[in-house]
Amino acid sequence: SPPSSNEQLYDVSVVEYGPQFGVVVRRKSTNTTVFSTDVPGMTFSDQFLQITTRLPSDNLYGFGEHNHRQFKHDMNWRTWSIFTRDSGPVGPENLYGAHPVYLNLEDDENANMVLLKNSNGMDITLQPSPNPAVTYRVIGGILDFYIFMGPSPEQAVQQYIQSIGLPVMPPYWSLGFHLSRWGYKDLEDMQMVINRTRDAGIPYDVQWADIDYMYNFMDFTYDKSDWPGLPDLVEDLHRNNQKFVVILDSGIASNTTLIHGAKQNSPGFNIYQDGIDKKMYVKDVSGNELIGEVWPGQTAYPDFTRSNTMNWWLKWMRYLHKNQSIEFDALWIDMNEPSNFVDGSIHSCNSSSKLNFPPYGAHILGTEIDGRLFSKTLCMDSHQHWGRHYDVHNLYAHSQTIRIHDALINMSAPKRPWAITRSSFVGTGKYATKWMGDNQSKWPQLHWSIISIMEFSMFGFAMNGADICGFWYEADYEMCLRWHQLGAFYPFSRNHNAKGDNPVIFKHQDPAGWDEHFIDIVKPVLLTRYRLLPYLYTLMYKAHEEGYMVMKALLFEFPKDRNTWSVDRQFLLGPALLISPALEQNQTIVDAYFPKARWYEYHTGKEITQTGVVHQLYTPLDKFNLHLRGGYVIPWQEPSTTTHQSRTNFMGIIIALDENQLANGELFWDDGESLETYKNNQSSVLTFTMVKAGELTFDFQTNNYRAAELRKIQVIEIYGLDRIPDKVFVDDIRVDDYKIRQSEKIIQIMDLHIYFFNINFSPWVVRWEID
Ligand code: GLC
Repeated sequence: SPPSSNEQLYDVSVVEYGPQFGVVVRRKSTNTTVFSTDVPGMTFSDQFLQITTRLPSDNLYGFGEHNHRQFKHDMNWRTWSIFTRDSGPVGPENLYGAHPVYLNLEDDENANMVLLKNSNGMDITLQPSPNPAVTYRVIGGILDFYIFMGPSPEQAVQQYIQSIGLPVMPPYWSLGFHLSRWGYKDLEDMQMVINRTRDAGIPYDVQWADIDYMYNFMDFTYDKSDWPGLPDLVEDLHRNNQKFVVILDSGIASNTTLIHGAKQNSPGFNIYQDGIDKKMYVKDVSGNELIGEVWPGQTAYPDFTRSNTMNWWLKWMRYLHKNQSIEFDALWIDMNEPSNFVDGSIHSCNSSSKLNFPPYGAHILGTEIDGRLFSKTLCMDSHQHWGRHYDVHNLYAHSQTIRIHDALINMSAPKRPWAITRSSFVGTGKYATKWMGDNQSKWPQLHWSIISIMEFSMFGFAMNGADICGFWYEADYEMCLRWHQLGAFYPFSRNHNAKGDNPVIFKHQDPAGWDEHFIDIVKPVLLTRYRLLPYLYTLMYKAHEEGYMVMKALLFEFPKDRNTWSVDRQFLLGPALLISPALEQNQTIVDAYFPKARWYEYHTGKEITQTGVVHQLYTPLDKFNLHLRGGYVIPWQEPSTTTHQSRTNFMGIIIALDENQLANGELFWDDGESLETYKNNQSSVLTFTMVKAGELTFDFQTNNYRAAELRKIQVIEIYGLDRIPDKVFVDDIRVDDYKIRQSEKIIQIMDLHIYFFNINFSPWVVRWEID
């Protein structure tokens, strides 16, 4: 419900000068002007809108999608364009998604977030202090601003995410480790990688199939000559409690010579015709199907702004799933900017159209050629149900994820859908997760990936990640190792590789393909991920129900600490896990900042003694840095090599105490795959609460999940005790055999049998006392 006027954090005034006016939004509590258009130069015309807004400070974050090389923006007259485009994260150009939204930290620790809700192409120019400002130059639509007042940065983002749509809840298995590549030679090659990963005992839940599996790169088909046993391979994955994800591209093969030629017995050859009959495609200016070119050659583009594309897509998904027996568990949707290998269409585009050649093309990639806006995408004067492509271009993937999300629900309910998309718009996180596209196997990409994932968290995607070990080019041993140590903590953790350019096929980069030494280093870090999945899954629930970020920048937890405002080589998972990765070649020392709080080294429980300073962490190749924050209870589970297996193991908690000897936490649990278990009363939220030092209570906020077998907490570890207690009680029964690590002030209470997720659960209390 909207706040009443005295709860309102802001007031609004209008300043008039001459024929122009400015809107000024002020934060009442501090008298800070958070947003003001009281700047000359506003222009409002059909294909050119310009407006400048003053910022209260130059601490600016966000706008996307770009490859920003620092999280906190360089304000020195940098211009960033927004227009969805098939281009990998390397240079400064506009990339796959469109997110015209920023977060601004005011000079105290307050924050505001501002969205320009507009789907047209635009330039954003940043102006430095002493008059920090943002200038928008937009090539269509209207000026529709939304301001989120926080006041904390986390609250500002949370308000934003709650307004645009809460992130989709991923199935538990999708939090496991994924293996993918483009360029598996054939089925045997993929099977070989699957086998060696299993043999190496590497935690691994999901195998992906890129366009290699398709017949002639046509959607909904598979290649029965090089991939004859694909249904069996999928079955084998399922028997091993693993999952299978297939790619589907946006373009539908339309080359009728191919379809009606020698290969007309190929499966799925009439998909295109079916789409014509049902009027599914984007139409060119003369009303015919616009034909471009993607992997299969000529293609038509489904117009997903039409709601009936859902049923059509569902029909063909079922065809692949059932008739072709490729029982995929989730979808990878790609090339949806939409991408086109030719500019506009196979016939180019009408050169006299101002939509194709707008008077102001912003600095959108491609317009530098001759002003064309349709470079590597569709003609801007083509038609979609929601409007001219010119206006809805940035919404292509957004509309597609809505239909595919619905189609997946229809196909697999009561299981929850899972799809991952390359392109996105404001609010797409409600329907799909996101990966960062075609990065490179180069060292700087490790750092850049952290920035982009932290940005997409702000854009409402809880689950996102970059291709581990890099996509283009051949991965290097040390880099790939370090990348696994980093990527094990991405919300979405997938190793994915490109094929290479004929005749050079990039060699495999899956972890088991290197050597024993590599496996010995990567296994423990992936097992650590698996061990912490109960915590990560709980964060996903917090994102899905309340709009909290999962992977986030330090400033969100420590806004008062200005040192955190530009940290982008470390990140947090939720409030309690700090990851400080090695990101450079030959690096053995990581400079890691520890904001003022209590921090414990994850493996040893050793406390970081001095905080508010940078520590040099010794990080040889076989080490990764993970720290726990005092004040939090972190749930974990004994890991196995699949999440399915892990979920049958016992659990434990780490109680990481703060300076008052207190800690709190929670655990969300359900069957890991049903739709909306929280709303449907099929889940449980277990709470760990300490109101006073020395006493922790286990209780339920909700207790509706009925486990097939009883779940138990078997281990409790307490980090950061002032003194080692003399007595420990679990539910008033004295426990004698606990391990003490004197020097670290840690106790570990083993072999407990705290059962939960049953109807008769009553709260448990753990107490520790000093005589
Ligand atoms: C695109 C995707 C990439 C995929 C390739 C082949 O480049 O971004 O991930 O491997 O297409 O389908």
